[in-house]
Amino acid sequence: MKRIKIAIDGPAGSGKTTTAKIVAEKLGYIYIDTGAMYRAVTLAWLRSGTELNDTNLCKLINEISVYIHNTSIGQRTFLNGVDVSDDIRLPEVTKNVSPVSAVGCVREKLVAMQRELGKNGAVVLDGRDIGTVVFPDAELKIFLIANENARAERRTKELREKGIELTVEEIKQQIVARDNYDSQRSISPLRKADDAIEIDTSNLTIQQQSDLIIDLANKIIGE
Ligand code: DC
Repeated sequence: MKRIKIAIDGPAGSGKTTTAKIVAEKLGYIYIDTGAMYRAVTLAWLRSGTELNDTNLCKLINEISVYIHNTSIGQRTFLNGVDVSDDIRLPEVTKNVSPVSAVGCVREKLVAMQRELGKNGAVVLDGRDIGTVVFPDAELKIFLIANENARAERRTKELREKGIELTVEEIKQQIVARDNYDSQRSISPLRKADDAIEIDTSNLTIQQQSDLIIDLANKIIGE
């Protein structure tokens, strides 16, 4: 049986994380949320109280430990050995994660970790640069897109379930700002790999989009 690598990239709110989790579970693969790693570094930076610049970030990235761990209650993210899975979803982290993730030495370190975690295959990774930079050799590359309204509504609902109340309009503004930042940065910008399959999820349910990807994966695995 082939143990393939599946890369799921796309902008904020396109359904990457939920879809990637379902696909991984169905295939018995490991799921790796690369955004969670960038969020953990952002949380560490916020706690450091330093100015956001390359020098401070490059020093910080060598002083902290970030790792993700799959547990019976799903994937958890650890910063210096402490579970920060909830804290990394706070609005303050979301607001600052794009500029932190644009810093070269932060990306270098996290990309190396991601390659190590995924090197044996049987993995689903979601992020912005998986198909273009982290695993350009991934056997299946998916690029999820969705219109801004659909993405903002999904995120608002997700945050509400966590007790964070923001309006759809506020979330839409954040999403657009993050998309612009992530796709215009000079290092590994958000971009569809030439050989990625684009799926517009605006009018699809999570189950429908997951099934589409599972079918594509099974075809490759069965070849
Ligand atoms: O998927 P997410 O919203 O949790 O990602 C948070 C941020 O991390 C995103 O705005 C950009 C950055 N990121 C990245 O630059 N590269 C990745 N592979 C994953 C996330």
